[in-house]
Order: sequence, then structure tokens, then C-alpha cells
Amino acid sequence: MASDGEQRGNPFSPGFGRSPAELVGRDALLDELRSEIEAASSGHRLCSILLGVRGSGKTSVLNAAEDLAHESGWMVLALDTTTRGLPQRIARAAAAATAADAVDLRPRRRINSLRVPPGIALGWEYAESPSDDDPRYLLSRLAETAAARGGGLLVTLDELHSGEREEVRRFAGDFQHTAEREGLPIGLLGAALPEIQYTVLEDRKLTFFHRATLRRLQPLTSEQSFRCLRATAAGTGGTFEADALCGAATAVNGSPYHLQLLGRSAWEAAGAPEAPIDAAACQLAIREAGREFRRSISEPAWNDLSDAEQDYLHAIARLHPSATRRAVAGELDAPTKWLARTERRLTISGYVRMTNGGTLEFAELTQRQDVLDFAEPESGYRRPADHPNPQPARFREATQPCGEWMPVAKARCALGRGHKGGHRTRR
Ligand SMILES: Nc1ncnc2c1ncn2[C@@H]1O[C@H](COP(=O)(O)OP(=O)(O)OP(=O)(O)O)[C@@H](O)[C@H]1O
Ligand SMILES: [Mg+2]
Repeated sequence: MASDGEQRGNPFSPGFGRSPAELVGRDALLDELRSEIEAASSGHRLCSILLGVRGSGKTSVLNAAEDLAHESGWMVLALDTTTRGLPQRIARAAAAATAADAVDLRPRRRINSLRVPPGIALGWEYAESPSDDDPRYLLSRLAETAAARGGGLLVTLDELHSGEREEVRRFAGDFQHTAEREGLPIGLLGAALPEIQYTVLEDRKLTFFHRATLRRLQPLTSEQSFRCLRATAAGTGGTFEADALCGAATAVNGSPYHLQLLGRSAWEAAGAPEAPIDAAACQLAIREAGREFRRSISEPAWNDLSDAEQDYLHAIARLHPSATRRAVAGELDAPTKWLARTERRLTISGYVRMTNGGTLEFAELTQRQDVLDFAEPESGYRRPADHPNPQPARFREATQPCGEWMPVAKARCALGRGHKGGHRTRR
């Protein structure tokens, strides 16, 4: 199989951060963002954060929103926060734009760039004053220049969850100063994993972000996946056979990234566009995309969890389809408060969801079979005496807190003794 579908005319693009040939299921969201950009031109606040699990399409929506802003005559400063150096990146983008004198500088991939609408000259020489390295000054100058032409400045911050906290705080201060004190038309659109709700959005020094509008990216419905697979193939002269397409759309299970993986494999397996994509090609692709999704999304997500959280998921997998709260509590010797908090955390992070029937089931990040498989080696070590309550020792251990003092938080670690990862004030 080609490692890069594009090399062989394959229209599916399962790469993180690569905008798809057909962006489905996001029209309503983009309409809202378009209205917000228009409203921001006349002084309304624009500060939104897109939340979604890995591969749910956050970066693709950011790219589309940047296009919308650019078409409305706005300047777009696209930044990502994965590594340190946010202020320097703002300065570099401004320097490059002033040097190139109003040329569209946007590179093919979205990494730290400033896009200036045609006809806008930035009008100042970079490095003309010592303030040119000061992000607050630069943001104000850019917003002022854009405002003078009837537009504004849209700043996009991708991977906001991974931002260095002190830099994000400082950026928030600079942004707020430009928007609120100077009253300039500047908008902020961030993208982050849902876990940000436990980090940046809980940070007492980041009240600015507490007031952001949070927009959760919903999983694609089977119907949206169906349309996307069909339209993406058709765009390059390919076709799916009807039954094959239905099966493939259902197997996508809501993840845009999974969809692109599946489409790419099916296209290759069938030898499209010369031959139609049939059921055999789709079967093969469903297996292959499932393996790749598990390797790149589900397994890292499983490994991010503490032992006790893994046990919680394992209990749901074993109890399926009758995993009510009561049944889970019966399987795990854990305090009810911990169980309720864990359900909330794993729901927000996209591992589980509560069905209308009152049972817990797996959500976008992982599937039941994955959890059974991930937990399999551990199950092999279980002693007969461990049944029917297989993990009491771990929870008894977990109920004794670690207690390590955390000077910054001015609190003791509340995790169970011997926990994985860093200390936390709450379980
Ligand atoms: N609405 C959509 N319809 C079809 N394909 C999509 C859609 N959104 C994203 N994709 C595709 O899904 C893949 C993942 O998208 P993207 O990189 O935007 O996700 P992400 O949420 O930013 O991921 P990460 O959390 O890893 O940064 C890409 O191949 C992209 O082309
Ligand atoms: Mg992304």
C-alpha cells in the first residue's frame, strides 16, 4: 500500500492536520463561526475553543474557519502551541509578513503563519522599534492595520491543551488587552483535546479562557460517513458498490480519521478508480483501518489511563451490554465518589458514553474488543481466588492516598499510592 495516498491519485488523506477533500458534518459549526467573525467586525467578542478527541477534525475545522475569515477580508495569524516559543512565533510571523509586504504567506500545512488579505499593506517596517518583539504590541498593530481596511485579526491556536501554561497565560493577557482595552477587532479560535477541561480551563489564573465558548466536535453519523466516502471517491472518478459503501460507513464509527484510513485502504484494495470499490475490498479495508486506528488512537489512549481507570473500562467491557452504574460498582471495590468522577472524566475525554437505556458503552476513542484485548495479558495473571471481584487489591491500595506534597498547588497528591504519572490534587 502506498504510504501517501496522494502519490497514486488516492483522494483519501488520513494524515493529522490535512484538510480532507470533502469536509462533512461541519456545516452548522462553520456557519456559526462565520456569523461570529461577522459580529466580531462590529465589536462582539470572538473567543471559541473547538474540543474533540484525536482525529475528530479539529485542525481541519480551524483551516476552514481561517479560509472563511480570509475571504471576509480578515488577517489570519495561525499558531500552534505544541512547543515553547509562542511570543517568538508571533514576532516571526509578523516579521515575515511585513518583509513580504502583504503577500499571502500561507504555507500548505498550517504551522505558524500570517495570512494577509490582498491589498492590505502592513505599513510598518519590522524592527523599526524595540517593541517589535513584544507580542502585545504586534497583535495591536496587526489588528489596527486589519481594522483600518474594515476587517480584523483572527488568531488560531491549535493543540491548545499542550501549550506551556505560562506562555498561554501571557498570550491570554496580550489578546485581552488588544480586544478589550484597545477595542480592536481581534478574534481567537482555539482547538484542543477535551482533557483541557481539567488543565487550562481549570487554571484559576486563566479566567480569560473560562469565558470562551466551547464547541465539541460531534462524531460523524453513518449517513455523513456514507456521503463523505462516496463524494471523496467520486471527486477522483471512483465509485463504491452500494452494499459495500453501507458496511464501510457503519464501520467508521464516527471518527473522520478512521474514515480516511478506511477510504484509503478500500481505494487501494479495489484498484480504484479503474475498478469499483466492492464488498471484498471494503472488508479488507475495514480490518486494515481498524488495526491502524487501534495502533495510532486507541492504544495510546488506553496507555494514558491510570490502572484503576483501565479497570473501570475493563469492567464495562465485561459487563456489556448490561453495564449499568450499579453493575459496574458491583464489579469494582472502589468508592462511589471515585466511580462517579471517573465516569465523568472518561465521558468528557471520549472513552465512554451513557446510553438512553442507562448503560455505559464505549465512545469514539476505543471499542469494546480493543479494551478486552488490551486487558488480556493482565487477565492471564489473575488467580482463581480473584474472582468474582478481580481487582479489590488495587482499589484498596488506591484508597490509601499517595500524599506527596506539591508546592505549586499547595496540596497533597490525592491519587492512590503507587499511581502512574504525575501527582494530582484530585483523583
Ligand atoms: N469533517 C470531516 N470529514 C471528512 N474527513 C475529515 C473531517 N475532519 C477531518 N477529516 C480528516 O480526518 C483526519 C484527522 O483530521 P484532523 O487532523 O483535522 O483531526 P484533529 O482533531 O486535528 O486531530 P489531532 O487531535 O490529532 O490534532 C484528516 O485526515 C482529515 O483530513
Ligand atoms: Mg489537529
